[in-house]
Amino acid sequence: MGAVPSEPKHVAIIMDGNGRWAKHHGLPRTAGHQAGLEAAREIVRKASEHGIRILSLFAFSSENWLRPKAEVHALIRLFGEALDQEIDRLVQNGIQIRFIGDRSGFPNRLQEAMQRAEAASFAGERLTLVIAVGYGGRWDLCQAARTLARRIHEAELSEDRINEAEFEACLSTGGLPDPDLFIRTGGERRISNFLLWNLAYSELYFSDTLWPDFTVKHFEDALNDYRGRQRRFGRTPGQVRCSRHA
Ligand code: IPE
Ligand code: IPE
Ligand code: MG
Repeated sequence: MGAVPSEPKHVAIIMDGNGRWAKHHGLPRTAGHQAGLEAAREIVRKASEHGIRILSLFAFSSENWLRPKAEVHALIRLFGEALDQEIDRLVQNGIQIRFIGDRSGFPNRLQEAMQRAEAASFAGERLTLVIAVGYGGRWDLCQAARTLARRIHEAELSEDRINEAEFEACLSTGGLPDPDLFIRTGGERRISNFLLWNLAYSELYFSDTLWPDFTVKHFEDALNDYRGRQRRFGRTPGQVRCSRHA
């Protein structure tokens, strides 16, 4: 049942606080996003060194489309540039990239770059880097429900066979284990429509540090905190202690 946390296999992060970081430094919000990208690079490196198998990063939510056009454009541009710059190094380091989210709102050029990055990194076995862009947990649940409905309509599936495993397989995260550890930086204590299905039993960790200031040391603090948690998955503490020695 995996009740004793050792190292988390899957870590999911809401990288929040770029805008406030920029404001504190008297810079435009875009500069905060650029600084946030640098922080992300370091955390990916550290996660891979730590033997974490899956790192999910929330980069752009379905609700972030509501931001001012100029900020959305700047984010899209930054995202495209980062992909071009990073892809070779990621592939060399054995990192598999997987994007989750509704890509239809992004320029074709970027959609193609995402596809190319996924194809080029497909064989990576060291770390799976899941990047959530245009992603919303509710979007994911709806698209999974649509897939199931279509399969029933096409007589591939009967409704009484819908269970958690069938549902999970239709999510954009299908096949990935649930996050063991969820981290949100930037001080807010909320999920903001990230991985609604998958976070059901994740250990939650909130940091007041703004994402561009979130260093490897802060990441280690989160991992240490996780090591001190007792994961019970509904069982009693006694049962969990027993399973430790089982
Ligand atoms: C997170 O930082 C990055 C994105 C949502 C793209 P924010 O841009 O939300 O930064 P704050 O929360 O305004 O400081
Ligand atoms: C969540 O941050 C989304 C990302 C980090 C990509 P937001 O800044 O958009 O979340 P809210 O609006 O504060 O809940
Ligand atoms: Mg924010």
